[in-house]
Amino acid sequence: MVSGGNFPLTLRIAGRKVVVVGGGHVATRRTLSLLDAGADLVVVSPDVSASLASSIGRGDVEWIQRVYRTGDLEGAWLVQTATGDPDVDGQVADDAAAQSTWCLKGGDPDHATAWVPAVARIDDVTVAISGGGDAGRASSLRDGVAAALQSGDLPLRHRTHHPEGFVALVGGGPGDPGLLTTRGRRLLAEADVVVIDRLAPHGVLSELAPDVEVIDVGKMPDHHPIPQHEINEILIDRAKQGKIVVRLKGGDPYVFGRGGEELIACREAGIPVEVVPGVTSAIAVAAAAGIPVTHRGIARGFSVVTGHVELSDLPHDRAHTLVLLMGVRRLREVALQLVDSGHDRLTPVAIVESGCTPDQRVTVGTLDTIADRAGEVDAQPPAVTIVGDVVTLSPAWPQAD
Ligand SMILES: C[S@@+](CC[C@H](N)C(=O)[O-])C[C@H]1O[C@@H](n2cnc3c(N)ncnc32)[C@H](O)[C@@H]1O
Repeated sequence: MVSGGNFPLTLRIAGRKVVVVGGGHVATRRTLSLLDAGADLVVVSPDVSASLASSIGRGDVEWIQRVYRTGDLEGAWLVQTATGDPDVDGQVADDAAAQSTWCLKGGDPDHATAWVPAVARIDDVTVAISGGGDAGRASSLRDGVAAALQSGDLPLRHRTHHPEGFVALVGGGPGDPGLLTTRGRRLLAEADVVVIDRLAPHGVLSELAPDVEVIDVGKMPDHHPIPQHEINEILIDRAKQGKIVVRLKGGDPYVFGRGGEELIACREAGIPVEVVPGVTSAIAVAAAAGIPVTHRGIARGFSVVTGHVELSDLPHDRAHTLVLLMGVRRLREVALQLVDSGHDRLTPVAIVESGCTPDQRVTVGTLDTIADRAGEVDAQPPAVTIVGDVVTLSPAWPQAD
C-alpha cells in the first residue's frame, strides 16, 4: 500500500539483474536510469521504442522479443512492469511477489511493492523525494530542492569539509548575476571568504551570510590598489586557515584575468584549487549588443586582444572579428595602428560600455570615425571594442531603408 509501512531504501543495483516488462516510454525511461546505475538489464516486450532499440543495438540491454511469460523474472532482483495492459502488469506483479522480488508497477502505485523516488544528483549530494504515489508532486519538489541547491539558495556552509582549505577561482561573468554559473553560485554559498574584483558581479554579495569575509581587491583602470602577489597571499593565507575561499573574478578567470597566476600560486602553496569557467565579456558583451563574434558568410574567426598591445600582427581582414578588451581610452591610437597595418579604414567598429548591465551603451562607427564618436559620447571603461563586418548585425548599426 502507498501510505504506511514504507521503508525508504537505496539499492546497490550495479551488476544485478533487473527485468523491465514493456517497451514504451515508461519502460524506456526506467531502463535508461537503471543502465546509468549499472544494472544488468533484460527487457521483455514484442516491440520497443527507438531509444530502447539503440540501447539494445549497442548491446547494453538484452531483449526478449515477445510477450511476457511466467518464468521471465528468474534471477531478477527487481522488476519494472509498464506494458500498459493491466492483466499482464498484474501477472508480472504476482510472479514477482511469489519469488520475493520487488516490483515497480508503472501507473499503479497501489499494487506495487516498490516506488522510485524523484531523484536529482548535484555534485556529491543525492536528493530523493518520495511523493507517496504522487509522482508529479515528488518531481516538482525535487526540482525545487535541486534548483535551490544548484543556485546556492540553500545554506550549504559548513557542510563541505575541506579541513586543509580550498580555493575556487570562479568566473563571475560580465556583470549580470544571472550570468554566473550554477557551480559558481553553489561555491559562493559554501564560501567562508570571498575575494572579489571590481568587474565581478557585486550584486551576489548581498546573498552571502553576514559572517562571510568579503575582501574587495578591485583594481581601477590605471590604479592598482592591491598588487597581484598580495592577492595571491590573501588566497593562500585564508585557505591555510582551513577556509573555503572563493576568488570571484569578472568574466572568465583565464581571459585577461590572471587566473592562471593565482592557480599556480595556490598549487605551489599546496592548496587544492578548482577553476570554474565564466562567461567572458569578450563574447558575451558583443552578444548583448547583438553582435555574434562569428557569423556564417560574414566572419569566420575572431581574436581577443587587449587594446594595449601591438596590433600589427593580427589578421587585417574585415571577415576576422577583433575583440579588444581594455584600452577604450586609447581608441584613436588603436584605430590608427590597425589602419596603418592594413585594416580597411571603413571597417565597422562598435564600443559596448558596461555590457550585460542596465547601463549598457553601444556606440558604432568605422575605424575612421570611432575615436571621434567615442569622444562625443565620452565612452568609459569597462568597454569592449569590436572591429569587423559582424558589427553591421547590431541593431545599433544604421540600417539601410
Ligand atoms: C582585466 S579584463 C578582464 C576580462 C574578464 N576576465 C573577462 O573574461 O571578461 C577587463 C576588461 O574586460 C572588459 N569587460 C569586462 N566586463 C565588461 C562589461 N560588463 N562591459 C564591457 N566590458 C567589460 C573590459 O574591456 C574591461 O576593461
